[in-house]
Amino acid sequence: MYRTHNCGELCKKDLGKEVILSGWIQKKRNLGSLCFIDIRDYFGITQLIFSKKLVNEKFPLVEKEFLIKIKGKVVERSSVNYNIPTGKIEVLVSKLEILNSSLPIPFTIENKTDGNEKIRMIYRYLDIRRNPMKNNLIIRHLISLETRNFLSKNGFLEIETPILINPTPEGARSFIVPYRKNIRKYYALAQSPQLFKQLLMIGGIDKYFQIAKCFRDEDSRSNRQIEFTQIDCEMSFVEVNDILFFFENFIKHLFKKIKNIQLESFPCISYDDSIKIYGTDSPDIRFGMPFIELTDLVQKKNISFLKEQKSVIGMKCHNQINISKLKEIKCGNVFWIKNSLNKMLFSSNPDLFNNKIVKIFISFFQTNPGDCLFISYGEEQESREKLKKIRSEIINFLNSENTKIFKPIWIKDLPLFEWDTKYKKYKSVHHPFTCPKEEDIHFLEKYPEKIKSKSYDLIINGVEIGSGSIRIHKKSIQNLIFKHLGLSKNEIESKFGFFIEALEYGTPPHGGIAFGLDRLISILEGNNDIKNFIAFPKNNYGKDMMTKAPSYLE
Ligand code: AMO
Repeated sequence: MYRTHNCGELCKKDLGKEVILSGWIQKKRNLGSLCFIDIRDYFGITQLIFSKKLVNEKFPLVEKEFLIKIKGKVVERSSVNYNIPTGKIEVLVSKLEILNSSLPIPFTIENKTDGNEKIRMIYRYLDIRRNPMKNNLIIRHLISLETRNFLSKNGFLEIETPILINPTPEGARSFIVPYRKNIRKYYALAQSPQLFKQLLMIGGIDKYFQIAKCFRDEDSRSNRQIEFTQIDCEMSFVEVNDILFFFENFIKHLFKKIKNIQLESFPCISYDDSIKIYGTDSPDIRFGMPFIELTDLVQKKNISFLKEQKSVIGMKCHNQINISKLKEIKCGNVFWIKNSLNKMLFSSNPDLFNNKIVKIFISFFQTNPGDCLFISYGEEQESREKLKKIRSEIINFLNSENTKIFKPIWIKDLPLFEWDTKYKKYKSVHHPFTCPKEEDIHFLEKYPEKIKSKSYDLIINGVEIGSGSIRIHKKSIQNLIFKHLGLSKNEIESKFGFFIEALEYGTPPHGGIAFGLDRLISILEGNNDIKNFIAFPKNNYGKDMMTKAPSYLE
């Protein structure tokens, strides 16, 4: 028998019991007359105390991370450790057996470790012994479990779709897989289950979901991995609002269950408004700071040095920030005004910028003491871009102290196409199966970039957590979109012939969404590196530091 109890469960009610425990040595302390070992397993830590005989015989033989099995008696602890559930007892060891030895450990296996990211990735299995990593995997499990329960209860069927498929255009490059039986043909690893989930709707499955592995040959970053997981969903007979309503409740449910946080209603704005108000399609709205158009004000108040500018925009920041730390503020075409109790501070050249002008802005923005205004001017796009950079610098600055606030927002009506400057053709902003808004279809021939789509993204604290759309369910429109993406008739037939044909068998209107599971967990946990929530992630060069994949083939 390896254990009668685990290392996290013994407490005062067990006093006097003879127990067997197995676990790794977390700490070993020799205080002369008394010797202690902290023994750790998945469940927790228990302090062991050694008799004189065992100290002399066995204590010198064991080191950190040796796996031991002990037999002993539960006794009361003189100095209580209130930080752990087993902190009121210890086990007086009568027998110690070494189950397995350990090499010297490359970094400390404790909550706070001295190991850098590289070494922890090389020895990922040791890193997983640490509580923070183990807890991240537990959270991941709980979120997956809640997802399954919630979606199943709401009539969604979990269905696996193939990983080895033909390449489908999802905006990234595909990983290519050769096959021994057909040496000239290749599979692609699925970038997402997109086409298959739509085919399931054609197959009459009313609601589908899958916790799906996706593979994309793209640059890795803190919130991007080449191999990642989606909570992928699709529903039949729905419109945009049905999807937003249902999945807002889903996300609220996860936050409540996992974090006991009650999220407020998610605001929903169009893509165009998002760019206008926040300068980005993935705004972090935790700290407010919408952009305000000032061009009219400047004309009306006849502010001479701004009057000639094409665009003047500003924003107000309520939070305390150190303006001198903002880099973008020093790059021209922007100034700040701070309402500092009874005096106004401002950044600009005093010859151009006098108290009268300061007062105009202060009263227009209705500032309170402590508020700071940032005003940017110049060409429309540049002034917006500049203010966006300042806004994001301020958010980065405030972010570290505010990881417990969550402000989701829906961004909808994204453009259907964008111009690909490299390949000189249109490409889909979302993917080619996204339905254009009916009222915009007439733009297709002459102004494709003006077409908006029935699409939506869920942004939480500035991170794109989910993305989806209502799909095209009519062959004629799907063909038209493929044509505008530059696919010839032959290409459409060879790549998507089966799908176009499927659309002709009474395809229901349908739509869906996919959430990045890794990103969702990392946001919930206030840690923006998704690697921390993946058991065996790749580094930012797509390399598995432990197995050294990818490698040369023989
Ligand atoms: P999209 O490509 O926007 O949509 O992906 C959906 C969500 O998946 C997450 N995500 C990623 N997470 C980690 N690493 C990556 N490399 C990565 N790429 C994407 C993001 C993103 O919002 N088939 C469509 C969905 C649909 O239309 O239903 C799709 O895959 O959180």
